[in-house]
Amino acid sequence: MKVMRKVLVLVALVALLSPMILSTGCAKKTSKVDIGIVLPTKDEPRWIQDETRFQDALKNTNYKVEILFSQGDPAKEKTNVETLISKGIKVLILCPQDATAAAAAADEAAKAGVKVISYDRLILGTPNVDYYVTFDSIEVGQKQGQYLVDHATGKNNPLYLYAGALSDNNSFLFFLGASQVLQPKIADGTFVIANSDKAKALQNKKDLTRDEEASIIGQITTNWDFNTAKNLAEANLAVAPANLKGNVFILAPNDGTARAIADTFAADPAIKSYVITGQDAEKPSIQYIIDGKQSMTVFKDVRVLVKDAINVAITYLQGGTPESTKTYNNGAKDVPSKPTPVQVVDKNNVKQVLIDSGYYKESDFTWH
Ligand code: BGC
Repeated sequence: MKVMRKVLVLVALVALLSPMILSTGCAKKTSKVDIGIVLPTKDEPRWIQDETRFQDALKNTNYKVEILFSQGDPAKEKTNVETLISKGIKVLILCPQDATAAAAAADEAAKAGVKVISYDRLILGTPNVDYYVTFDSIEVGQKQGQYLVDHATGKNNPLYLYAGALSDNNSFLFFLGASQVLQPKIADGTFVIANSDKAKALQNKKDLTRDEEASIIGQITTNWDFNTAKNLAEANLAVAPANLKGNVFILAPNDGTARAIADTFAADPAIKSYVITGQDAEKPSIQYIIDGKQSMTVFKDVRVLVKDAINVAITYLQGGTPESTKTYNNGAKDVPSKPTPVQVVDKNNVKQVLIDSGYYKESDFTWH
């Protein structure tokens, strides 16, 4: 009887413990996710580029990685981060849809012991950002501004200004870089601002404050959206007098909005020629450059950004501290970073920079 009781207790004990043993065994087998990546949207070629380059770069690592898209929705972004935290990530690479809203997701990740890497766009207003992997976004704006300056002769050239979304810190950096170069050329009469009285009111100030920038960007924002860009360009052209048409110059913040704005200007018979900027070297814009419909783009080699992000993530997984050459203040902290330089591409160097380097295939484009 005594023996029987002992056996029963043993059986009960095994029955009690076995699910635990099983579940830990299972957890090992399903192998948890090590690095979670959250990107803003699939609607822009730029972020598909990043996804593809991440997939290429990760083929040969032993870490398990999952990439999720937020489809322009900060709430979805937060859910994505929570999903990845529940899968046991140790490092989060997050490109915020809305810089301020993303702070809550970063805080949750930090609470779960996850390292947070802000990717391309800076997460604002929280100390829970460990690193910022980025291009030199002020340089992007400077290069856009410089291209317009280099292609303008004489005085009173109409200048149309457009910017990115107010919810994206990069919009401020791009615009700041561009205005550093453009403001002196507006002050000396080379350019006349055509579509922003707020920018006009501040045209003699070289170093715009963030609030001043915000007031201008609020008037010329595309919200990173093709339709908003097109509608704004149409509205600007509808009220522009003849002296603000003819041969014009357009600061467009990125490729997607540049194509929408360029098409709108091209459709106006009073526009004789336009020089328009862009950024991202998106394939459709490379075709526009080859076709003479977009003047330039700023090439940001996503392969380098992806490599940097993975290296930083692996450094964290191995308990190290990534190298930093510059900090970016996000309102709560100076975030360590190592910005990557960027390069101007126009029809003169497009083949050399993008095809000869193997970034894109020659057969991806129609050449003339
Ligand atoms: C990125 C650009 C991109 C834009 C719109 C910015 O934060 O730096 O490359 O074109 O967002 O998605």
